[in-house]
Amino acid sequence: MTALEQQLQTLRAEAETAITGCADLPALVQAKAKYIGQQGAVTGLLKQLGTLSKEDKPRVGKLANEVKNVLTGIVEQKQAELESKIENQKSQIDSTLPGRRHQLGHLHPLTQIFEQTISIFRRMGFAVEDGPEIEDEWHCFDALNTPADHPARDIQDTLYVDLPKGEHGRYLLRTHTSPVQIRTMLKRQPPIRIVAPGRVFRRDNPDATHSPTFHQIEGLYVDKNVTVADLKGTVEFFFKQLLDPETKVRFRPHFFPYTEPSFEIDLSTPHFRARGKEWIEIAGCGMVDPNVFKAVGYPDDAYTGWAFGFGIERLAMIQYGITDIRLFTENDVRFLEQF
Ligand code: DAH
Repeated sequence: MTALEQQLQTLRAEAETAITGCADLPALVQAKAKYIGQQGAVTGLLKQLGTLSKEDKPRVGKLANEVKNVLTGIVEQKQAELESKIENQKSQIDSTLPGRRHQLGHLHPLTQIFEQTISIFRRMGFAVEDGPEIEDEWHCFDALNTPADHPARDIQDTLYVDLPKGEHGRYLLRTHTSPVQIRTMLKRQPPIRIVAPGRVFRRDNPDATHSPTFHQIEGLYVDKNVTVADLKGTVEFFFKQLLDPETKVRFRPHFFPYTEPSFEIDLSTPHFRARGKEWIEIAGCGMVDPNVFKAVGYPDDAYTGWAFGFGIERLAMIQYGITDIRLFTENDVRFLEQF
């Protein structure tokens, strides 16, 4: 036996042990390269065939090829074994386990009240209007019959924005949705029937019933011969629809600069009556003041109209029995999940 044949035999034994002992595919790839790859040990020995005598060459050459074929066979077997092991591990997933649930989101309770409110007014022929949250003094106050020296302006004359004065005075975060009345009437002639939902801002210290940002929905109806009876009928219908058919509505005289006469609306729902609380104050309304029509350039005495402003948080608190207004903006899922 030549030295080369001996080396081949030893290599074969060593390679068999190494290949069959591979624990994973990367180890097998390495062992394959080491023994039967292009730079591998068997190939190395094959290159030495040229040094042999004529008689030895065919025999040793045959052996070398045999070793290579055997090792290739063992590598393939090992590869199949390791791959099927991975496959088996994969199928250890228990497909009978319950899946992971997707948490479905839903609309914020304030959005729900907005949507319900808008849909009730749409059914009565009201369109939806929008206005900017950064408003100017004229739309927010002056055009609404609230001049600079008017005491009603003091409590709302606050969150000014650091912008250069425009043609309608300084800019501020709107304190109510009432300026949308002005914007709508400037755009078009009566008949007008709109609601304007939106966010409003006031300088206020947050507590259970006050928040520096909150939401309102404004209503405006202008036409010929619109009366307080239309106002009361509409408001009553709305609250009965939104809250409870047994809801009672009461108008109390009040003052707003942009309406004359003006009222505060009180509500009584079975829910509140059961808790021993008869009337709760919910909104402001009234007949549009002639000075407001003048501000938007409507001819004198041509139209009458009414307007209202409801607080959306207030309505949501009544509807859902929520006792702290701050919950709406805290974004606590344990709260939000309940609606
Ligand atoms: N703007 C008033 C507020 O923020 C609410 C209001 C009262 C709106 C009377 C109206 C109205 O349109 O006629 O308190």
